[in-house]
Amino acid sequence: MCIVNTTSTDADIEIHGWVKSVRVQKNVSFAEINDGLSFRGIQAILTKEQAKELTTGTSVKLRGRLVESIGSEQNRELQVDQVEILGKCDAATYPLQKKHHSFDYLREISHLRPRSNTFSALARVRNCAITGFENFFQKNEFLRVHTPILTASDCEGGSKVFKISTSHQPVRPTACNSSGNNLEYFDKPVYLTVSGQLHAEIMASSLSRVYTFGPVFRAEESVTSRHLAEFWMHEAEIAFLTQLADLLEFTEECIRSTTTHILESLSTDIDFFRKWIDAHLISRLESLNGAQFTRMTYTEAINILSNSKRKFEFTPKYGTTLKSEHEKFLANEHCRAPVFITDYPKSIKPFYMRMNNDGETVACFDLLVPKIGELVGGSLREERYEQLESQMIEKGLNVDEYQWYLDLRKYGSVPHGGFGIGFDRYLQFVTGIDNIRDVVAFPRAVGQCRF
Ligand code: 4AD
Ligand code: MG
Repeated sequence: MCIVNTTSTDADIEIHGWVKSVRVQKNVSFAEINDGLSFRGIQAILTKEQAKELTTGTSVKLRGRLVESIGSEQNRELQVDQVEILGKCDAATYPLQKKHHSFDYLREISHLRPRSNTFSALARVRNCAITGFENFFQKNEFLRVHTPILTASDCEGGSKVFKISTSHQPVRPTACNSSGNNLEYFDKPVYLTVSGQLHAEIMASSLSRVYTFGPVFRAEESVTSRHLAEFWMHEAEIAFLTQLADLLEFTEECIRSTTTHILESLSTDIDFFRKWIDAHLISRLESLNGAQFTRMTYTEAINILSNSKRKFEFTPKYGTTLKSEHEKFLANEHCRAPVFITDYPKSIKPFYMRMNNDGETVACFDLLVPKIGELVGGSLREERYEQLESQMIEKGLNVDEYQWYLDLRKYGSVPHGGFGIGFDRYLQFVTGIDNIRDVVAFPRAVGQCRF
């Protein structure tokens, strides 16, 4: 609880917040007040008369004295002198009653969802995770850069881009176009970005180490517990990097360091998740302790999957992407820990990944974590002009459109690599929440964009 407008002594304070619960007793009443800034609110002690209009959800300003508490839940409580109701709340229709609400129900009331324990805790974990990643990159002397949201390229080449309508009706047609016809705002098709990587590569090609944190957009067609149409990604690009093993090590350090930061900074919120959300959480977080994350090649992964007794819906086969069921098997059951899968066949990966000497696989990785599957994707980038150009042609890209990207390989090209961490999946990982739509305040998925 953040106690605002504290007067000079602890004795007389003023707090703002929302009523979480009220207990009216014969001689004295109690109300739990929370302003959302921490898991624990403060218990207010009131007279029956003062508590009369306090119902769950009411916003209040209370003045009183902080006193030692005799209860075991908190060490201080507020002996209230003055109550000011800021906004009434109709107890009969308030959608958040003092009982367990399902995630499905809470999703229906996303305008009030942050008032629930789970979602206010999530907002704090989200905030803390952002700081954790920021600290990590800054400590390692990365520059934060901004990459654009509107782009004319499709980084991942998976045809999941949202094309934006560039037809533009001028507000004052006569000023721009005497015929009043629609104008094309841009001179070429423009999309919402699916990844900031290509632009981050531009920046790293001059600034050495950069990272971005921004929203990305993908027109995912299926509804799953780990896909959104709009999600956030941390992306790093590192110049002068030659070994995939070094990229793996750096990625692992990044995940560990951010997770440690959250565990140390928000123990009450994390304890709440441990206790209530998911028994698997403890083992997930424990899997971060001690041993290195497992590493195996794609070929080894296919062999493990093919030799397992598990009946998969999709038969694992060399040359095909790992399906969610395969990824989960590898992380949850085979490794029971985060696992890097490296060196996928070039045929199932994007054009920019660096070709290995075998001419068949690329120097890339996916980091799979228990229960979720892929959390991070990364690779060395193809820094050799001819190889990159031939990959572009092989993948059917319009080379002229990507000349600027090829140019980076022409004027002082350097070996480099990077990765993208799905931030919302990372929050699933640390909180144990099963469905990605429950870690995002305003989820956008197929058929879902309420307001
Ligand atoms: O593996 P992806 O597609 O990699 C890239 O976009 C690279 N250009 C990143 C880079 O190297 N700079 O996406 C990266 C991560 C995935 O590992 C996954 O965690 C997350 O983004 N992700 C999604 N998260 C939520 N909803 C979706 N539809 C997602 N698609 C990918
Ligand atoms: Mg990927």
